[in-house]
Amino acid sequence: MCNQWPLFAPIKISFDRERLKKEILYSKILNEGFLATSHLKDNKNFWDNGTNFKSQEFIKQLKVPLWSDENRQSLIKKDIDTFYQINLTEFSNEAITDVWEGKHQDKTKIPLWIKNDFSWKLRKDFQFPYLKKVLDSLGLNYFSMIRIVYQIPPSIGLIHKDSGPKTNLEYYNNGGVGITLNVSSGGGNLYFVNSQGQEITVDEDNICIWHFDDSALHCTNEVTSERIQIRIYGNHSNYRELMDLTGVIF
Ligand SMILES: [Fe+2]
Repeated sequence: MCNQWPLFAPIKISFDRERLKKEILYSKILNEGFLATSHLKDNKNFWDNGTNFKSQEFIKQLKVPLWSDENRQSLIKKDIDTFYQINLTEFSNEAITDVWEGKHQDKTKIPLWIKNDFSWKLRKDFQFPYLKKVLDSLGLNYFSMIRIVYQIPPSIGLIHKDSGPKTNLEYYNNGGVGITLNVSSGGGNLYFVNSQGQEITVDEDNICIWHFDDSALHCTNEVTSERIQIRIYGNHSNYRELMDLTGVIF
């Protein structure tokens, strides 16, 4: 068995996407979402050097809202939107309204699910009985952060990374998982840069659940309807066993 973890792999479990979508929309939790964007560096998205995603449609990446700097002094609004997110789990009494702690400037930035890699609880103010069933079907030892990431048109998912490759490698080696429930693609697709530096497009139509190593540079193209995904972090005793090895991308 190879020790390297794939960047992308379909997961061999499915769920009723329409049912989960209805449950989320009915809860109205999306009204509480917060903008998940990056910040300007040298007048560009911190993550975007302009060369990784080349198709013409990615020109709109230049038009997403960005914070003026890493301290989020002010939001610079443009004419197309990007990701919103809302956390479904928590581990303290304080609402979790962000995903990372620390700063790039002093190399202290770390995802909260890695810093707090233990069992979190589902929020009590919203009820998601079907999501609970889907979670149970994954056979996790525990889950930590679970968040909804969504886009409402006009929106393009900005280019970014959520973690670092060494951090994720260590996380996966310790049983960590990075699972996406593809509730509704919104006509958009996940794009990422693979280990050879090539641009990969995921054809999401027939993949209900996937593993994605979010230390790879990634984004989406423009969506045509609402795009709703659920990101699940947690711990599994045999994560590789869940993966459909015929569809892996390294
Ligand atoms: Fe991401």
